[in-house]
Amino acid sequence: MILTDLDKKLFTLHTKNITYQMKVDEYGFLLHTYYGERIDDEDMSKFIQYLWRGFSGHPYEMNGRFDWSLDTLPQEYSTYGSGDYRSPSLHVINTDGSSDCDLRYNGYEIIDGKPGIKGLPATYGSSDEVQTLKVELLDKISGIGVDLYYSVFEEKDIITRSAVIKNGGKGRVWLERAMSMCVDYNIVPDFDIVTFYGRQLGEKFVERTSLRHGKTVMDSLRGSSSSQQTPFFILCDKSTGETQGNCYAFCLVYSGSFMTEVEKDQGDQVRVNMGIQPESFRWELNAGDEFCTPEVIMSFSREGFGQLSRNYHNIIHHNLTRGKYHLSRRPILINNWEATYFNFTEEKLLKIAEDASKLGIEMMVMDDGWFGKRDDATSGLGDWFVNTKKLPSGLTKFCQKINDMGMKFGLWFEPEMISEDSDLFRAHPDWVLRTAGRDGMLGRCQFVIDMSRGDVVDYLYNSISSVLSSANIEYFKWDANRQIANAWTALLPAERQGEVMHRYVLGLYDLLERLTSSFPNILFETCSGGGNRFDAGMLYYAPQTWASDNSDAFARLFIQYGTSFMFPVSTMGAHVSVSPNEQVGRITPLKTRGVVAMAGTFGYELDTNLMTDEEKEIVKEQVETYKKYYDLINYGDYYRLSDPYKTDRYVAWMFLSEDKSKALVNYVQVRAYSNAPAIYVRLQGLKENSTYVVNGAEYSGKSLMTCGIPVSSMMGDMVSLQIEVNEK
Ligand code: DGJ
Repeated sequence: MILTDLDKKLFTLHTKNITYQMKVDEYGFLLHTYYGERIDDEDMSKFIQYLWRGFSGHPYEMNGRFDWSLDTLPQEYSTYGSGDYRSPSLHVINTDGSSDCDLRYNGYEIIDGKPGIKGLPATYGSSDEVQTLKVELLDKISGIGVDLYYSVFEEKDIITRSAVIKNGGKGRVWLERAMSMCVDYNIVPDFDIVTFYGRQLGEKFVERTSLRHGKTVMDSLRGSSSSQQTPFFILCDKSTGETQGNCYAFCLVYSGSFMTEVEKDQGDQVRVNMGIQPESFRWELNAGDEFCTPEVIMSFSREGFGQLSRNYHNIIHHNLTRGKYHLSRRPILINNWEATYFNFTEEKLLKIAEDASKLGIEMMVMDDGWFGKRDDATSGLGDWFVNTKKLPSGLTKFCQKINDMGMKFGLWFEPEMISEDSDLFRAHPDWVLRTAGRDGMLGRCQFVIDMSRGDVVDYLYNSISSVLSSANIEYFKWDANRQIANAWTALLPAERQGEVMHRYVLGLYDLLERLTSSFPNILFETCSGGGNRFDAGMLYYAPQTWASDNSDAFARLFIQYGTSFMFPVSTMGAHVSVSPNEQVGRITPLKTRGVVAMAGTFGYELDTNLMTDEEKEIVKEQVETYKKYYDLINYGDYYRLSDPYKTDRYVAWMFLSEDKSKALVNYVQVRAYSNAPAIYVRLQGLKENSTYVVNGAEYSGKSLMTCGIPVSSMMGDMVSLQIEVNEK
C-alpha cells in the first residue's frame, strides 16, 4: 500500500509487516524518516535529529543554521559534493567539470503494477500484487534528474528499489557512481552485519560481525558478482537469531561488478548504498539520455533470519524466475563432467545414459568437451559445432539415441569465452576483451569475448541457436570459467572505456533474453565454475544455478546453508558425486550424498557404470524419494533447524507444505561421538494445536517446536535421516 499525504509531503509504503517512509522537508530535500516493523500512519520525521554540525557544508540558503547539513540528515539518495561527506549514491561530473548536484523534490507518480528496467533483470508482478511509487528529484541548475522507484509487494513483505538518472541539461555529463539505492537508518540500534564470502569451491560462507564506525565494503571488481563476495547482506539487532529478532536484507539483482557500502557515521547513523561497483564504472550521459540502475530487493523481518529468507525465497521463486520451468517439475539429471571430464567417447556417454535411465534418472547432460577441438582447457571455446571425433554420429543422432532410451538430453556451453586456439579467435582476434597493443590477460587459458559489442552478441545468438535447433536439446548449462580483467573494447573511444564492464553485463543479459525467449522449452541452468555468478540477476533468465564445483556432501552443508539465506531450493544446483570426493577426497555414504543433494535441484555427477548393484539400488531409492517429495521440497517452505557453524554434531533442515500439514525433516549427523545424548531437533512453522505423526508416534505441533524430535546418536560420521511429519 502506498500512502501520500501531500500537505505534509509524506510518502508511506506499507507491506503486511513493514513500513517505509520518506518526507520532503521545507527546503525540498527528500529525507528518509523510517524503515522497519509496520507502524501506523504516523509522520516519523519527528525522530530526525538536527544536531550541531557547524563544520559540515550546507546549501547556501541555510546560512546561519548550524543544525542543518546533509552530512547528518537521513536521505533517500545522497549526492557527492552536497556537503554530505558520507558514502554518496550519485557522483556526477557536470559539463563544466564540477561535481555539484543539488537534488530537490520535483514530483511523484503512482504506477499500478511494476515497470520493468530497460535491459536489466527485475522482479515482476501484476497490479493485484504490486504498486510502484516514483519520486522525482531534480537539480534545477544542471538539469540532472533522478527518478527513484519503490515497488511494494504488500503480501510478500518486499520493497524493491532502483533509480534512473536523467540528463535534462544541455551538455554531456559523466556518472562516476550511480548506486541503485540508499537507505539511511537514523534510529539505529547497535547493528550486526551478516555477509556471505567465499572462493571457488567454497561459496557463500556466513560471517557475522559488529558493524563498526566507518565504511564496511563488500564488493566485486571481477566483472561477475563472484564467489568471493555476494550482492546480498543482512543488518540485524545483536539479539537476532534464526527465529526471532529484527533483520533487514538487501539483494542486488545484478551479475557484474557490484558494491555494497555500509557506513556508520559520527552520529551512529547507518547508511547503506548498493549498486554497480564505481571503480570500474564511468558512464557518459548525453543531453536527453538516461541511465537505469539495477534493482535492489529489500525485506525486513522481526522474526529472525528464517522468515527473512522465506521472504526472499517467495519473491525469487514467484516474481523473479521465469519461463516454463520456474513453476513446473524439472527432470532429475545426470551430468558427465565428474564422470569423464574431457575424456569421453559417444559410446561411453551412451553407456552412462543407458544405465542411468534404468535407475529412473530422466536427463543426460553432456558437459564440456563436445565441440570444436576440445580435449582439455586450452582450446576450442567459441567453436560451437560438434566434434565428430568424439561424437561420430553427430549431435542430432546422438541426442536421438539418448531420447530413444526415454531420456531427455542437455548440453553445456560457455558462450562468453573464447580460446586463442579456436577458429573463432583466428577469424576475429578483435572480439576479445583486451587492450589494443597488449597480449591481454588470460584465465583458465581463455579470453573473455567482448559482449559489450552488439555484433558479437548477434554472432553468438546465431551460432548457439543453430546448435539448439539441430537436435532435441531440453536443457542448457551456461558456464563461465574466468573473471574479467582490464576490460577494453575496440568499439568505444578512450574516454568511454569506463562503460565496458556494465555494457558487458547488458550484452550478457541481451543474449540470455534472446536465447531463453527463442527456446522457451529449454531448461536453462547457469554456472560459473560453480557459484561465481550465483546471483538474482542470472535467476531472472535461468531458474537454477550450479551452486558450487565442490560436490562434497560435508562442504555442501555449509555452501547450501549460506545460499539458503537468499535463494530458494528450486534455484540451487546440487548433485550426488563419487566418494572419495573429487575435490576434497572425503569419504561419505551415498545415502547422505543424496539427502544433501535433495536440498537443491537434484541430480547426479558420476559414472553409474562404476557403481555396485547395492549402490544402484540406493540411487533408485533416492530418485523415488525425490520424486515423491518433489512438491514439498521445491514449493514448500524451507526452515533451517540448526547452524552448522555452532555445532559439529549435526545439520538439520525441513520442508513444510503451505498448509502446514506435511513436513520432511532432513538430518545429517556430521560427527559421531561415543555415548552422546540424543539431539532434540526443534521443528518450526507447524500448527501449535495440531497433532502430527512422526515415526508412528503422536506429538502436538507445539511439542515438536518446543521440545523437538529426539534423534539418537548413530554410528559413523556423515550419516543421515529423512523424517516424515504428517498432520493426523
Ligand atoms: C566448471 C563447471 O562448474 C563444471 O561443472 C564443469 O562444467 C566445468 N566448468 C567444465 O569446464
